[in-house]
Amino acid sequence: MPMERYQFMSNVWKDGIFDNKVVFCTGGAGTICSTQVRAMVALGANACIIGRNTEKTENMAKDIATARPGAKVIGIGAIDVRKPELLQQAAERCAKELGSLDFCIAGAAGNFLAPLDQISPNAMKSVIDIDVLGSYNTVKATLPYLIESAARHKTDGKTQPPNGTGGRILFVSATLHYAGTPLQSHVSVAKAGVDAMAVSVAIEQGPKGVTSNIIAPGPIADTEGMARLSKSENRDRAYKSVPSGRFGTVKEIADATVYLFSDAGNYVNGETLVVDGGAWRTAGYG
Ligand code: HXC
Repeated sequence: MPMERYQFMSNVWKDGIFDNKVVFCTGGAGTICSTQVRAMVALGANACIIGRNTEKTENMAKDIATARPGAKVIGIGAIDVRKPELLQQAAERCAKELGSLDFCIAGAAGNFLAPLDQISPNAMKSVIDIDVLGSYNTVKATLPYLIESAARHKTDGKTQPPNGTGGRILFVSATLHYAGTPLQSHVSVAKAGVDAMAVSVAIEQGPKGVTSNIIAPGPIADTEGMARLSKSENRDRAYKSVPSGRFGTVKEIADATVYLFSDAGNYVNGETLVVDGGAWRTAGYG
């Protein structure tokens, strides 16, 4: 593996652990989700990323494909996750062109800063629709393929772990709703809904070998979300308020993703992995 390309490579990752696997990701051209997918691709997977902006999504797919010689990464743009039929078509294309669909990252989200009394009904609905309905549409479109993938890896024994990894869903949520966050009521409501859905899916689909988990990033440096949502003049105070004393990196979200999708995460189902340096626990005390 050409290590010079992978400054973000973790010393706990093992080359080839996702060989012959396929990851499908909404919001895949964004900073966090593209890094999650890049990690999976570097470790053997092929990928299909979904986005609203065609040029951005296609360019990101090309860029992610450089993570491993021979990697196949499809970028499908002009897809709004609020349109279930478009996601169905994308999942079908992913499985047809790449051979399977083993992992799903429901990462598409919408957000802005506004107090509740200045959020129009349509703005509130837009965020809930993108986050909650979009995640639902994503899971609905990919679930048949994920169930197939899980079935390929399921073993008969009652205590036997699966024979390889597949059939996994990861919802990208947030910590905003744990302690309450000003100017974020819309996304807090939406992410609470996403979390609830993830747990229900875990319980419903677990017997088929599918796992459904949540990753909840805290303040992650150099992301579109932080650039848009956090004012630079507040950053020094924000760093100090994080128990770990710093913002996180996208590589640290990729690390957690690799863990949950790898054999190491076989028995983790219906859980939230918060990756925030302890930030939400001190919210409001910084
Ligand atoms: C108030 C706003 C607004 C703003 C849009 N609206 N921006 N209201 N403040 N800044 C309102 C519009 O006026 C409109 O309402 C309604 O929202 C819908 O807007 P549209 O432009 O029609 O776009 P639509 O595609 O429906 O909505 C998308 C969006 C947008 C959510 C509003 O911001 C978006 O897609 N953002 C890009 C994705 C994004 O932000 N990603 C970052 C996620 S990071 P009216 O009433 O006028 O019709 C993240 C992690 C958080 O979520 C972690 C933080 C630490």
